[in-house]
Amino acid sequence: MCVGPIKGALVDTYVRSCNPRTALELGAYCGYSAVRIASAMQQPSSKLISLEISAANVEIATQIVHHAGVSSKVQVVHGILSTKIDELKQQLKSMGASTFDFVFIDHYKEFYLPDFLLLKETGLISKGTVIVADNIIRPGAPAYRSYMESHKEAMDVVEHKTWFEYSSLPDSIMVSTLK
Ligand SMILES: C[S@@+](CC[C@H](N)C(=O)[O-])C[C@H]1O[C@@H](n2cnc3c(N)ncnc32)[C@H](O)[C@@H]1O
Repeated sequence: MCVGPIKGALVDTYVRSCNPRTALELGAYCGYSAVRIASAMQQPSSKLISLEISAANVEIATQIVHHAGVSSKVQVVHGILSTKIDELKQQLKSMGASTFDFVFIDHYKEFYLPDFLLLKETGLISKGTVIVADNIIRPGAPAYRSYMESHKEAMDVVEHKTWFEYSSLPDSIMVSTLK
């Protein structure tokens, strides 16, 4: 289920160009993308918080992150976005920030749009935040995709055609930067 090397390299490129100090991931699974994102975060005090619904996955991802040597930059948190808003605000505050600079959305596809809207409503993302969303075509996030396509006045939106992880089946990654 991880993003894989081809789409992963694309995500790395966006992390490097965004140069975030604060990053959020929705869906850690085993920590593959968390390790990639953290490795591409260049600012000395940068931090990635990765939210994961499964306690077993949190445990595994935490071990992988530790094994990869990036545990100072990554915190894998058990839970879902709607129940973690206050905690995330506190974490940001402790870093002297109020919003995430970079977000990677890669959890259940029907949660993409509601969780994006929740991030916006709660002010956890704002002008300049770069939001990268995986699996836009396969398995697909049609509601998220059509929302992004119809709100180009509020965001710069780029869809990268690519391949589903470890296969030659079509997929895409959508990158939205809040204006
Ligand atoms: C595609 S996998 C993530 C892969 C990971 N980003 C990578 O590339 O290495 C999706 C993960 O999202 C988790 N998940 C599903 N719904 C979630 C939610 N609402 N909040 C957080 N995690 C969720 C699943 O348990 C699963 O581990």
